[in-house]
Amino acid sequence: MFGSSSSDLGIDLGTCNTLIYIRNKGIVLNEPSVVAVERGTKRVVAVGADAKRMLWKTPENIIAIRPMRDGVIADLESTEKMIRYFISRVLPRYRFIKPRMVIGIPSCITEVERRAVEESAYKSGAREVHVIEESLAAAIGADIPIKEPAGHMICDIGGGTTEISVISLGGMVVTSAIRLGGDEFDEAIIKHVRSVHNLIIGEQMAERLKMEIGNASPDKTIEKVEVKGNDAITGLPRRLEIDSVEVREALKDPITQIIDEIKATLGKTPPELAADIVDRGIVMTGGGSLLKGLDKLIAKETGVPAIIAEHPLDCVALGAGKYFDYLKGFDTSKNIYDSLNG
Ligand SMILES: Nc1ncnc2c1ncn2[C@@H]1O[C@H](COP(=O)(O)OP(=O)(O)OP(=O)(O)O)[C@@H](O)[C@H]1O
Ligand SMILES: [Mg+2]
Repeated sequence: MFGSSSSDLGIDLGTCNTLIYIRNKGIVLNEPSVVAVERGTKRVVAVGADAKRMLWKTPENIIAIRPMRDGVIADLESTEKMIRYFISRVLPRYRFIKPRMVIGIPSCITEVERRAVEESAYKSGAREVHVIEESLAAAIGADIPIKEPAGHMICDIGGGTTEISVISLGGMVVTSAIRLGGDEFDEAIIKHVRSVHNLIIGEQMAERLKMEIGNASPDKTIEKVEVKGNDAITGLPRRLEIDSVEVREALKDPITQIIDEIKATLGKTPPELAADIVDRGIVMTGGGSLLKGLDKLIAKETGVPAIIAEHPLDCVALGAGKYFDYLKGFDTSKNIYDSLNG
């Protein structure tokens, strides 16, 4: 009974969204990684979706923050409180068996940050904690047969980070992570609208533009959306119509950086594995992979097919949740070369 895995938790601690997966129950929590605290006392007043609604709209005594912005833990204390709150929400109050937890985090996180994440999970009642790279978790969650002796490329484009890895025989052969993701897409749109139209728009408006009419590849149909913001000169509120061609232009820079990183990673991949990737394609996960036309553009620029995973936003949590099964399978498979190694 002690080894029961029914309460094992898989956690995707993302810069935008936190997801928790429990085996046999599925995704039990999916909330924005946002905390609202009282200024001065730092008392938490809201977490998750409630706190997100307060972002940029808070009265003076309350601040809503995204403690994991840009893939780094910008605010350790709030991150800890957020993790503990989310875990407490999905765990029953009285339990005999403490759960095991696997947490997927960006590989560009520092050792101090990694330890802080571990510590918070223990404080929330874990008996065992594993922190794993989010692209490894994403690959398991996307059902990629990573234990095969063949190369697989996974590209996870999140809110604050993009992680590209080549995996073979269950291990990461090449990995590169950059602190750039969907947030930078939003920022690029804000910058563009300001410099071309003298209009200051908020992050949520920019994200809406990206999701509704953003398109990385040229399209015959041109879509339009009305945005509202403040005039950069007069400060007065005003409306403006923006079209998809403009949004694509605005997104060019961050998208090019991601594609360059994919190309560089392919360049560092041993030729045998690269040959497998050409056949199997690049598997894309993370919310950023949902940007319209991005898969098409990546395929065109790299010459390698790009496939979006079935549930791109859930892969890291799913993979983290299945990590123990994956380890078990890996450990029990006998290494036929062991006898050679004495
Ligand atoms: N349909 C969509 N089109 C374009 N972008 C999208 C879409 N849906 C979500 N996104 C973007 O995906 C990002 C969030 O993705 P995700 O939840 O994978 O990030 P995260 O895991 O929290 O971040 P990270 O992996 O960097 O820590 C946001 O920037 C969001 O705007
Ligand atoms: Mg992520």
